[in-house]
Amino acid sequence: MNPRIAPSILAADFARLGEQVRAVEAAGAEWLHVDVMDGHFVPNITIGPPVVESLRQATAAHLDVHLMVSEPDRFVDEFIRAGSNSLTVHVEAAPHLDRTIETIRSSGAGAGVALNPATPVSAVEQVLGLVDMVLVMSVNPGFGGQRFIPYTVEKIRRLREMIDGAGLPTAIEVDGGINDRTLEDVVEAGADVLVAGSAIFGSPDPGGRVKEMMEKASGLRYHS
Ligand code: DX5
Ligand code: ZN
Repeated sequence: MNPRIAPSILAADFARLGEQVRAVEAAGAEWLHVDVMDGHFVPNITIGPPVVESLRQATAAHLDVHLMVSEPDRFVDEFIRAGSNSLTVHVEAAPHLDRTIETIRSSGAGAGVALNPATPVSAVEQVLGLVDMVLVMSVNPGFGGQRFIPYTVEKIRRLREMIDGAGLPTAIEVDGGINDRTLEDVVEAGADVLVAGSAIFGSPDPGGRVKEMMEKASGLRYHS
């Protein structure tokens, strides 16, 4: 399957959110990445369930909700009720990760686990078969528009080997600093879902950028 582009609304103009979401959806984006920050786990605050609820009314796209929050278990139910299709929690914020994953899965939503750049891939080894997706942060979470951290490519590669070695269908998502150049490195390392915020909504033509990035990614393949 071709790698997927998941536009991150963090870089969108929130006053024109519906219009911008429709533009990327019409251009072919099947996923929308929604960054939830609590000002505690990360040094920034963004949006909560009401915005997810409004997005749910505005789009049929898969709402890929990235919870950058402390104690994510407290918020799972509310984000599911709001219409999230998948919830991704940070391993650094979830000491009882197995239980958190189970809570998400039992709600019927997809479950993902995220790794900060400095967290080794071994932190998710035991749960690879329990989740739909592992999100590799390629910047320190909290802000859009940051520079891609190159050593995270090696982490993607190692994860790909672990997942393929175990014969699992688990997807690898990469988030932070994705642009036309870094896209190539992460797809070749084994990424399946590429989150892009400023590379898409930083442009006057977000739909056009989605098309370009999808096209670029479709010509690339993982090679070991
Ligand atoms: C960062 C967020 C990202 C962010 C990516 O903490 O998790 O999803 O929107 O933005 P860009 O693509 O601009 O690095
Ligand atoms: Zn994110």
